[in-house]
Amino acid sequence: MEKMPVKIQPVIKPMPLVIVSCCNKDGKNNALVVGYCCNCSYNPPMVMAGIVPSRYSYPMIKETGEFVVNLVGEKNKEAYDYLGKHSGRDGDKLAELGLKVQKGSKISAPIILDFPINIECKVIGSLMTGSHEMFAGRIEYIHASPEYTDKDGNIDYSKIKIY
Ligand SMILES: Cc1cc2nc3c(=O)[nH]c(=O)nc-3n(C[C@H](O)[C@H](O)[C@H](O)COP(=O)(O)O)c2cc1C
Repeated sequence: MEKMPVKIQPVIKPMPLVIVSCCNKDGKNNALVVGYCCNCSYNPPMVMAGIVPSRYSYPMIKETGEFVVNLVGEKNKEAYDYLGKHSGRDGDKLAELGLKVQKGSKISAPIILDFPINIECKVIGSLMTGSHEMFAGRIEYIHASPEYTDKDGNIDYSKIKIY
């Protein structure tokens, strides 16, 4: 089979639809869209989130060592678009969107109740890869809206619609 070269770029697509939420030591909450997010350990269960150091959220995750990965549902399009285009530096994005937040069960970072799945993570290490610092987070607790679970109490991914 014949091949041709393609411009070198980050090639793995689609990006997941994910909002990372966090807080600083004074309890100020923030959230941003993170496309660079993936599973990175089966045992213990871990996920990784890539944050650009210029983001307002970056020093929050650095200083607390905590973040929440919120999976996005079909009703969250407006919030997703907003959180990826505006910085917490310019105002309280969560309040502007009227999102409901709650302190995590195992960590202080906020879960965003409007998103169907909230994954609480503690940073166990990080790697500055280039543009992003990849924070590896051990999963401490997972919250799910009941309508996004199946009869066995697992996440029903067929209900997490992609737009
Ligand atoms: C589709 C999409 C994917 C993004 N992926 C990332 C990412 O992986 N890491 C990151 O730091 N910023 C990413 N961003 C940009 C941030 O979400 C955006 O700059 C946000 O306004 C930063 O918010 P903050 O300054 O309040 O932290 C992405 C934005 C979009 C729209």
